[in-house]
Amino acid sequence: MNEKELSANVAGYVSLGGEIPVHRLGFGAMRLTGKGIWGPPKDRKGALAVLRRAVALGVNFIDTADSYGPRVSEELIAEALFPYPAGLVIATKGGWNRPGPDQWTHDASPSHLRSAVEGSLKRLRLDRIDVYQLHIPDPVVSFEASVETLAQLRNEGKIRLVALSNVTQEHIERARRIVPIVSVQNRYSFADREWDYVVDYCERKEIVFIPWFPLGAGKVAGDVLNRIALAHHASPTQVALAWLLRRSPMMLPIPGTSSIEHLEENVAAASVRLTDEDCQTLSHVSELVDSR
Ligand SMILES: NC(=O)c1ccc[n+]([C@@H]2O[C@H](COP(=O)([O-])OP(=O)(O)OC[C@H]3O[C@@H](n4cnc5c(N)ncnc54)[C@H](OP(=O)(O)O)[C@@H]3O)[C@@H](O)[C@H]2O)c1
Repeated sequence: MNEKELSANVAGYVSLGGEIPVHRLGFGAMRLTGKGIWGPPKDRKGALAVLRRAVALGVNFIDTADSYGPRVSEELIAEALFPYPAGLVIATKGGWNRPGPDQWTHDASPSHLRSAVEGSLKRLRLDRIDVYQLHIPDPVVSFEASVETLAQLRNEGKIRLVALSNVTQEHIERARRIVPIVSVQNRYSFADREWDYVVDYCERKEIVFIPWFPLGAGKVAGDVLNRIALAHHASPTQVALAWLLRRSPMMLPIPGTSSIEHLEENVAAASVRLTDEDCQTLSHVSELVDSR
């Protein structure tokens, strides 16, 4: 495959809020941190090289969060890529904290979100964050209060576009009464379809849907993937990504990796053309998984 084909460009574009076009294959920067999404990476030079290679391959949407590391993922992005090339969108998040390896605690209170945005601005060396995502609704804070805080930060010029993560359709509707929502990030893959109705809703409302854990597949799903991958001379991962790209024109996968080899393989997935039959077979896998 030549460099022209090996480009996120091949996946086409999707527009964030009708304002910012990005290639429809992004990069998730969570896996660049240490084990358990905690601390610095074992191979710092390698992590910086992955980020630079992603941008060289046309990736212009990078997903991160203040809690990845914590702080480490955002710091690596700035170290690798600042001053940022024109058109590069960094989407970060706040409201879900990482007090230790593999641990999460909620805090989407207005005061915490304000200080989280200030921290991300500093670490990313930005005056304004292009896309800021509420990481997850906080069960003990009014959802409206969290979203209103992000709307205020947008009015103050610290955030350009507001987005959500780990939400239901009802959350999106409630948030949209306060501020335009440009993307929604939920767990989703061909084998994991809990949020199908949110994907459909986002498509109707022209909201970008960002699937996290986009490569997720169990044993049954793995067997089906392997068979289709073999027929396309592709890897199972590429088939999982190609299915997502076919699922909706508003889909923006962000496969995460700490390896340049895997990054290149993931970007090359944009060139894999699944048949209608492949797509149908993959679309029915979740029923097999659910019935076990
Ligand atoms: N909003 C949320 O709550 C939330 C939650 C989780 C993640 N996210 C975001 O979503 C992004 C992606 O999610 P994720 O990291 O959980 O899942 P993922 O992208 O589905 O999987 C990453 C795992 O797959 C491996 N991998 C990646 N490419 C591969 C390839 N071509 N071949 C074989 N293995 C490969 C990676 O290992 P190697 O490093 O060895 O390649 C890593 O262990 C994250 O980076 C983060 O930005 C958001």
